Amino acid sequence: MIEKKVLLNKLDRGEAILRAVKMGSEKIVSLIKDSELRGRGGAGFPTGIKWERVLNQSEKERYLICNADEGEPGTFKDRILLEEYTEKMIEGMIIGQIAIGAKKSFIYLRQEYKFLAEKIKNTIEEYKKLFGDKVDFQIDLRFGAGAYVCGEEFALIESLNGFRGEPRNKPPFPTEKGFKNKPTVVNNVETLCNIPHIVLNGASWFKKFGVKGCYGTKLFSVAGDVEKPGIYEVEMGIPLIELLEHVGGVDSKAVQVGGYAGTTVVPEDYYKTLCFGDLPPGGSIIVIGKNRDMGKVLENILEFFLEESCGQCTPCREGNYRLLEGLRLLRDGKASIKYLKTLFTLCDVMKISAKCGLGQSSPNSFLAIMKNFKDEILYNER
Ligand SMILES: Cc1cc2nc3c(=O)[nH]c(=O)nc-3n(C[C@H](O)[C@H](O)[C@H](O)COP(=O)(O)O)c2cc1C
Ligand code: SF4
Repeated sequence: MIEKKVLLNKLDRGEAILRAVKMGSEKIVSLIKDSELRGRGGAGFPTGIKWERVLNQSEKERYLICNADEGEPGTFKDRILLEEYTEKMIEGMIIGQIAIGAKKSFIYLRQEYKFLAEKIKNTIEEYKKLFGDKVDFQIDLRFGAGAYVCGEEFALIESLNGFRGEPRNKPPFPTEKGFKNKPTVVNNVETLCNIPHIVLNGASWFKKFGVKGCYGTKLFSVAGDVEKPGIYEVEMGIPLIELLEHVGGVDSKAVQVGGYAGTTVVPEDYYKTLCFGDLPPGGSIIVIGKNRDMGKVLENILEFFLEESCGQCTPCREGNYRLLEGLRLLRDGKASIKYLKTLFTLCDVMKISAKCGLGQSSPNSFLAIMKNFKDEILYNER
C-alpha cells in the first residue's frame, strides 16, 4: 500500500503546543532543523533554517504568515488540510510563533476558499480559549483577491501591506524585511501541518519517512485523465509510476508534476522519483490522457501564465506573450522551425532574467512539451 497517513490522521489537540511551550524558541528551531523538513509550497527551502534566520534577527517585531493562496492549477491539497485538519495548521502557526518570537501571524487565504473562513475563525477562537493565558499568540485571517502571483511570498506580503501584489527583488528576503519591513516567515499550509507531528514524535521519527534529503510524507492532488482522482498522501521519494499505478493513470501521454509551473514528464521518465532533486513534488499531479491534443494543452498553460503575469518585468510580460504567439504561428504553419529555436533561446532568457518564480518557471512546459511533442504540434502538410 503506497498511502501513508501522517498529515491525514487526527491530532491530539494541544499536546504539541504544551510541549513547545516547555521547549522554548531555540529548542524548537533546533528540532525542526534536525528533522530536515523542507517547505511544501514549491521551492523546498529548509523550514528550520528559515525560522532560525528570523530568530537571529536583532529586530524584535516579527511575523509569521501562513500561505494559503493555493493558486497553482490542479492543486487542491491545502484545501483538505484547511477544511478537515484546521487544528494542525493552527498548532503549526502557534508553535512557529513561539519558535521565532512573533506576537502576531496571518493566514493569507485565497478568495475562492472564503467558504472556509468560519471554520478557521472558530478554530482560532477554540485555541484562544484553550491557550490564551499560556501562550501569547494572535492569528488574523486575510483574503487574497484571486491573483495567482499573490502566492509568491513577496507579492503576498505586498498585498498584506495594502499595496499591489507584486514580487520584489531578493535579497533582502522576507526573513530580513518582510511584512511592514520586519523579519517574517512565510510558510505553506502543509509545511505548518507537519510541525505539531514533529514536535510530538521527534526528528528521527519524521526521518523514517521519505528518502535522504527529502524526508516525510507528501500530499498530492491527483487530477486529469485518471481513474481515481483525489488527495493522496505518500512517502517522499516514491517513483511517479507507483502513484500512477495506484490511481489508474499509467496509460497516459504525459504527466504535469507540480502544476503548470512544474515539470512535464513523459512515460519514459515515469520511473523518476517524487522528491526535490529529481521531480520536485509541488502539490499536484495532472495526468494527460492519450487522446489529448498537446498543442491545446500547451496553449492552455501559456494562456494562464500570460493572464497571471503581473507585468512588472519584460522577460515575463513580453516573453509569455511571444511564446503563446509563437506556438500558434508554428501550429498554423506561419513560422519556420528556425523560429522554434529562437523561442527556445527566449525560454532560457526568461528563466534567468525574470524577476520571480512565475516568469522563471513558465517556460518549463513550453520547453518540455515542444521537445517531446514537436511532431504532433507543428504544422504538417499531409
Ligand atoms: C507565482 C508563484 C505562486 C506561488 N504560490 C504559492 C501558493 O499558492 N502557496 C504556497 O505555499 N507557496 C506558493 N509559492 C511559493 C512561495 O513564494 C513561498 O516559497 C512559500 O510559500 C514558502 O513556504 P514553504 O517554505 O513552507 O514552502 C508561489 C511562488 C510563486 C513564484
Ligand atoms: S516574473 Fe512575471 S509575475 Fe514575476 S515579477 Fe516579473 S512580470 Fe511579475
